[in-house]
Amino acid sequence: MSNGFDQPVMMKIDKIINESDDTKSFMFRHNLDYKPGQFIMVWLPGIDEKPFAVSYYGDDFFGITVLVRGKSTKYMHSMGVGEQLGIRGPFGHGFSITDNIKDGSGNACVIGGGCGMASLTVLIESLQDNNTTILTGATTKTTLLFKNRYKDITIFTDDGSEGSKGYPTDALEDLHKENSYSIIYTCGPEIMMSKVYEFCKKHNIQCEASLERYMKCGIGICGQCVCDGQMVCKDGPVFDSQALGKMSDFGNYSLLKSGQKVSINDYGKWKEA
Ligand SMILES: Cc1cc2nc3c(=O)[nH]c(=O)nc-3n(C[C@H](O)[C@H](O)[C@H](O)COP(=O)(O)OP(=O)(O)OC[C@H]3O[C@@H](n4cnc5c(N)ncnc54)[C@H](O)[C@@H]3O)c2cc1C
Ligand code: FES
Repeated sequence: MSNGFDQPVMMKIDKIINESDDTKSFMFRHNLDYKPGQFIMVWLPGIDEKPFAVSYYGDDFFGITVLVRGKSTKYMHSMGVGEQLGIRGPFGHGFSITDNIKDGSGNACVIGGGCGMASLTVLIESLQDNNTTILTGATTKTTLLFKNRYKDITIFTDDGSEGSKGYPTDALEDLHKENSYSIIYTCGPEIMMSKVYEFCKKHNIQCEASLERYMKCGIGICGQCVCDGQMVCKDGPVFDSQALGKMSDFGNYSLLKSGQKVSINDYGKWKEA
């Protein structure tokens, strides 16, 4: 029986974790029917409804990790334990765990950038940790997420305040020589994911990337999240190398709430009414 929801179901916040300077996790007591890489829609009555990955998951609980960006996320950061928000989902197409990764004969690499790590945590916990490399990057050490959650995690910061100075993609060439990856999973800034995709293409490695687009319905009706004919909410948010190769907007363009197409570099900088 599915424990997912087509309509928002109000749930009480059970616990709040301060993850970093600008990021909090909200935990709920519920058995959700969730697969790594899917997302849920979070309804804030009178404000908006927004997509979030599930970043904590167990038999009787789940959690989401929220970076402050605009109106809804600011409101969520002001909420306390016992307050309620509406949950719809899970929705979308998640990550695939191939047989050689399941049986330990292949090696996987997981690369997260900034808040993108929130979409990868449940995947990391589903993979056998003996054959998975985990790389994470953030602008500076105070915005790093989940650095103590895994025993083997390699950290990069843009300013060198923790781990190595630079980007997780800087280490890929050497790590692949050592580990010969069969798949690389990624979520983070699209510029980073696009570099990961290009690296995978060059070395004939399967790539799976979780894309972010502005969403409204979350179920393939409104067309807001479209990326080269693919609905990110329904066909994604996780796309494989074959699909990414056909999406010329990937790494280049996104749609604002108004539907206007803008460069991916400008997307997060636009302030819309
Ligand atoms: C599948 C999916 C999973 C997501 N998972 C998470 C998650 O686990 N944790 C998390 O913190 N966020 C996640 N997001 C992004 C989250 O939905 C946005 O941060 C949220 O919609 C912002 O709402 P807001 O009202 O606070 O900001 P808004 O007022 O809507 O926007 C504020 C600013 O952020 C920009 N913006 C809005 N949405 C996005 C977006 N999707 N990507 C880039 N810039 C955006 C706007 O252009 C604007 O400049 C996910 C998005 C998708 C599509
Ligand atoms: S959010 Fe409406 S079609 Fe994807």
